Amino acid sequence: MKIAPTIAAARAFVRRPGRPVVLVPTMGALHHGHAALIHRARTLAGRNGRVIVSIFVNPTQFGPKEDFSAYPRPFRADAALCRKAGADLIFRPDASEMYASDASVFIDETRLSGDLCGASRPGHFRGVCTVVAKLFLITQPDIAVFGEKDWQQLAIIRRMVRDLDFPVKIVGHPTVREADGLATSSRNAYLTPEERAAAPGFYAALRAATEKATPAAVVRAAERGIARIPDARLDYVRLVDSATLEPVRRLDRATTLAAAIFLGRARLIDNVQIPPRA
Ligand code: PAJ
Repeated sequence: MKIAPTIAAARAFVRRPGRPVVLVPTMGALHHGHAALIHRARTLAGRNGRVIVSIFVNPTQFGPKEDFSAYPRPFRADAALCRKAGADLIFRPDASEMYASDASVFIDETRLSGDLCGASRPGHFRGVCTVVAKLFLITQPDIAVFGEKDWQQLAIIRRMVRDLDFPVKIVGHPTVREADGLATSSRNAYLTPEERAAAPGFYAALRAATEKATPAAVVRAAERGIARIPDARLDYVRLVDSATLEPVRRLDRATTLAAAIFLGRARLIDNVQIPPRA
């Protein structure tokens, strides 16, 4: 496994033969959810392909009051995880190389980004789309793997690739969970033991809500379930069309029940899929 600390080094790596190139974009602080994505990338790339993991804590997707400077950066452990999971290259650029101090061109997705996480994180998806587009242009992957845990992000990236004709196939990977159901996340480390013990109630509430018969009942049940989690504060619950992220009135198509809560210092997100019902 090699490490490319500059854009030029990453470009030199992908110019060599060895296809397909599969990219897994991350911000580091890697855990077994990320490892599952890298394993998936290894399978997709095959023996002759190349797996690139990018590790870049992207400043443009953090709000002014968010945890950009506190975001963990354990590079040695991250490199060991990447090597073990089958990566060929870690692309690890500096923020100063990725963004000119007077950078003035950004990518704005204008339909799927306003609600859900976008409502409480203005500018977040503009930062995500811009950095992911840059990573695609630098590493020129044939395939890129994203987690379904960040369902809105995945839907927005699919839309960006469709609308801007990026020659990249987007693969979504199912959410990896702890044994008690909590979605694995770097931000789980912010939870106190009491909060950690309560946190699985989040996924349980979403799962239970999917048993209801109408969209309104699903959302109400999820809200009630979340209200029972000690000290949790609701950010949002939405039931949306899985691809367009528009609110639905019926359960006759693939829908996603997506939610975010604040628990202590952490903001947790999760979602469950509801298959179309007749
Ligand atoms: P990050 O939060 O590091 O996540 C990197 C990738 O890992 C994303 O595709 C995310 O959905 C996936 N992931 C995280 N936890 C997961 C879990 N428990 N199960 C499955 N997949 C999981 O998402 C970002 O970074 C950034 O926004 C990025 C796309 C890298 C742009 O900066």
